[in-house]
Amino acid sequence: AHPAHLHRAVAEWYAAHARDLPWRAADATGWSVLVSEVMLQQTPVARVEPVWRAWLAAWPTPADLAAAPVADVLRAWGRLGYPRRALRLRDAAAAIVAAHDGEVPLDLDTLRALPGIGEYTAAAVAAFAYGRRAVVLDTNVRRVLTRVLDGEALPAPSLTSAERTRAAAVLPRDPAAAARWSVGIMELGALVCTARAPSCTACPVAGACAWRAAGYPPDPHAHRRR
Ligand code: ADE
Repeated sequence: AHPAHLHRAVAEWYAAHARDLPWRAADATGWSVLVSEVMLQQTPVARVEPVWRAWLAAWPTPADLAAAPVADVLRAWGRLGYPRRALRLRDAAAAIVAAHDGEVPLDLDTLRALPGIGEYTAAAVAAFAYGRRAVVLDTNVRRVLTRVLDGEALPAPSLTSAERTRAAAVLPRDPAAAARWSVGIMELGALVCTARAPSCTACPVAGACAWRAAGYPPDPHAHRRR
């Protein structure tokens, strides 16, 4: 499992097989990516897509959302669920206007200081909108890395600092390559290396996968999950 080989295999697979999602378009902005990541936290892609489009049409900048009535914001959130996310996004937009001239910050720590923006969302915006080198670790990424590199079925219930360090160690040096790697393994986890029914015959890194090589041992954390 030489990282450069994995990086190339995942990049080629992504170029051929990734979904054409609007927040991944070349004209993505800090704001469009931030909105997508907050919506995608607890809602599947198919339901997010139309709401994300309408949202950005209504409020193309943080200043537009910050000025919007709460009732309009909640109505636009529609049935995405967990509507407090909509209010926190509006609070984040207000903070972006108040403290950052209306521009979504580029820097990881500054992003994390915004209301409702955690480690994952900050890293995703820095990497996917701004091409910064950031460790993007969501459930899909964690599962793929755990299988390929650790040979285990599923990651531990909560993210450990050792796991974060290891994810940083396999991140390509080049920032653009790092962002491609992160979105690539995220997509691989969503489409191929799924939790319940991985399609290893379609996987670009099956030949380097420690979990596959070990004969697919069961989840070592199962007793802690229920
Ligand atoms: N692309 C970038 N971030 C994503 C996410 N959270 N879900 C699906 N596709 C994405």
